[in-house]
Amino acid sequence: MDEAEIARLKRLMEWEGERSAPPEGFPSLPDMPAARYTSGEFYELEQAHVFRKSWLFAGHIDEIPEPGCYMRWHNAGDPIVIVHGMDGIVRAFYNTCRHRGAPVVTEDRGKSNRLMCAYHHWTYKTDGTLIGIPQKQDFGPDFDMSCRALLAVRCEMLGNLVFVNFDPDAVPLLEYLGPVAEEWEEFQFDKLRLAARHSFDLKCNWKVAMEANMEVYHVPYIHPETVAPLVDALRNVNTLYPEGHGRMLAPAPRDFDRESVRAIDHPPQWQTIETVGEFGRTATQSYTIFPNWVAPISNYFVPPLLFWPTGLDTCRLELVTMAPDWGDGPAPDLWTVPDETRPNGRDMVPLIHEDTQFGEAIQKSMESAGFQSVPLSYQEARIYHFHQHLDRMIGLGRIPPELRVEQVIGDDWMWPNDPRTAQMEAPREAAE
Ligand code: FES
Ligand SMILES: [Fe+2]
Repeated sequence: MDEAEIARLKRLMEWEGERSAPPEGFPSLPDMPAARYTSGEFYELEQAHVFRKSWLFAGHIDEIPEPGCYMRWHNAGDPIVIVHGMDGIVRAFYNTCRHRGAPVVTEDRGKSNRLMCAYHHWTYKTDGTLIGIPQKQDFGPDFDMSCRALLAVRCEMLGNLVFVNFDPDAVPLLEYLGPVAEEWEEFQFDKLRLAARHSFDLKCNWKVAMEANMEVYHVPYIHPETVAPLVDALRNVNTLYPEGHGRMLAPAPRDFDRESVRAIDHPPQWQTIETVGEFGRTATQSYTIFPNWVAPISNYFVPPLLFWPTGLDTCRLELVTMAPDWGDGPAPDLWTVPDETRPNGRDMVPLIHEDTQFGEAIQKSMESAGFQSVPLSYQEARIYHFHQHLDRMIGLGRIPPELRVEQVIGDDWMWPNDPRTAQMEAPREAAE
């Protein structure tokens, strides 16, 4: 981020802290229908048109570090295998044998220079090519092995991070991320190691869980001891990007006391990412990447929270920590703490408990007649922007009118446009 942009955003923080109404011209946000969180029809539309067409974080190269390493992945439902090819290229395939559909790998992780289906031993190279069929002669002389390769799923890397997309026609990952990819260059995703990855099942729609991490309005009230000491919610600046992505940028409170902070920036023993700029060092900078990634990234870590639908009213929260090389010491884990009573031996840290505490109750309420719609404030606009894009991905014509959100936030409020800048400068210019 260049100096001029840093300076503009700093002025904007002060301006946001002082304004007495939403910015001039910012649309008032119509209520969102509650049924977006409870309708089976809407859930099916999301599955078909959002999770089948968006770039999704699937893993880190440390999980498949060498040629021949593979990992199963099924967070988006379909069984996938991600393979570090013998040629060094990382690819994703449906974990589905082209014979009669048995899985070609049956372990979560493994290493082999061939993928062999256990059912009848059809054998594939790590680039998916089918190269071996026992008793091939019985399939007849015309049987063409070359059109029976494993079916590929789009797979692209951002530094050491692996993303997949089920849509063969999707734009490349970098284009999808757009300006965000550029802003992330300073975080050196190609140097990050995977430090921790754990998941937890929650009893609410995936959007209910995720939206607790898409606004700062709640920070003073449910995070008084964890996040609030770090984040001046009133001076937060939201930025809306194309493709449904968003960013929050909040400075520390004026009376910020680093000694007393206990939440997300207290690991002085951690390595720091030297190239990270001023905001990554001094402010709280969090990105939502459509559809299900939220990460407050800093000079210490890139720790995405991923929200995976597992049903209409259930989801899985994945808590990932990626950080620069920590040498031989224990791997840093930002989001979980040891707990032998849990299935994965870990529990969520207090601040994640704070964010997830109301999920199940909210879901129950949303299913009752007592809850009809969701009014959102200007400060919660990232949530509305996300929903607008959700509908665009699905296709407005496919969504019953009673389930749609109105498309009221126009491109004039979308990066790189920002009408707040002129409004902030106007009184200054007038005074000069
Ligand atoms: S199903 Fe895989 S070899 Fe038959
Ligand atoms: Fe929160």
